[in-house]
Amino acid sequence: MSHLWRVDWQPRWRGLVEAEAQALGAGRLVAPGLYESERPYLAGRLAFGVGGGQVAAQGPPETLETPKGASVHVVKAPCKQSGSPLEFLARLPQRPAYAPRGCELELYCPEGDWYLVRTTPAPAFLAPALPRRTSTSLPSQLARALVNLVARPGDRVFDPVCGTGVLLVEAARIGCEVSGSDQSWKAVRWARENLAALGLEGAIARANALTLESEPCDVLVGDLPYGLRLESADLTPFVDRLPSLAHRWALVANTDLSVGLTAAGHPPRLHLEVPKATFVRHVFVGGEGFSAL
Ligand SMILES: C[S@@+](CC[C@H](N)C(=O)[O-])C[C@H]1O[C@@H](n2cnc3c(N)ncnc32)[C@H](O)[C@@H]1O
Repeated sequence: MSHLWRVDWQPRWRGLVEAEAQALGAGRLVAPGLYESERPYLAGRLAFGVGGGQVAAQGPPETLETPKGASVHVVKAPCKQSGSPLEFLARLPQRPAYAPRGCELELYCPEGDWYLVRTTPAPAFLAPALPRRTSTSLPSQLARALVNLVARPGDRVFDPVCGTGVLLVEAARIGCEVSGSDQSWKAVRWARENLAALGLEGAIARANALTLESEPCDVLVGDLPYGLRLESADLTPFVDRLPSLAHRWALVANTDLSVGLTAAGHPPRLHLEVPKATFVRHVFVGGEGFSAL
């Protein structure tokens, strides 16, 4: 039995969209934005997931069985098949009725292959309404994708530059045990407020990321401060100690830190560039003990 995962195939964030899907076990890309997987579609979990479900039938149209009297929605994007949905349905033996989005059965028609999918009735990722956001807060969708690259439910996740805590909020929302710190008291208060507003738990303290001493947690996430403080040279004390802080990590920076990370002996396993209107965010993922789901 296989499953289809459909992701938002937007060109701007393509690298991150693909990396997130692969990190969660999306499997084989069968059409732009469409994966065939052995794992059930994780509705609401993927930041960029837009649909999917269990494959009920697969193959050429003449073999696709639909339940008697069924209505089917023909998904045109992201496969970009041209033609009327009614023409596609007319090619199925039982000629089911056309239904708008949101119905239980969906038909995907990528080149040369057809899939009838029983959809997973659950919401797509929704950004939470957080009481505290600043101009440097990460967008929640981006934060969720980053968390999904390295963390799994139950992991202990730490953010040493937590700001308003958007990464910790997303880690907590998937079931991680979160803690964080920031050198600014205001950030500490705001991260606490954001977690509390969603009924999430997390220990937030004031601390300097450059002098942290702690037992390693499972995952470190961090959206590094812009400006001089943590740029290449000054980052050394932080990146040197990454393995003593966590087994796996995902960092965001506004500069390319690959050289510094590699020189410190932790070459990133993944480096993505995520463009924004005014600058490029660099995402680095590293460490060990990565597992699917
Ligand atoms: C880019 S912001 C993080 C934004 C955060 N991801 C959010 O969504 O709000 C960087 C944060 O690093 C903090 N910071 C800067 N230097 C620091 C240091 N040496 N130790 C701890 N925090 C630091 C700043 O106070 C700021 O809150």
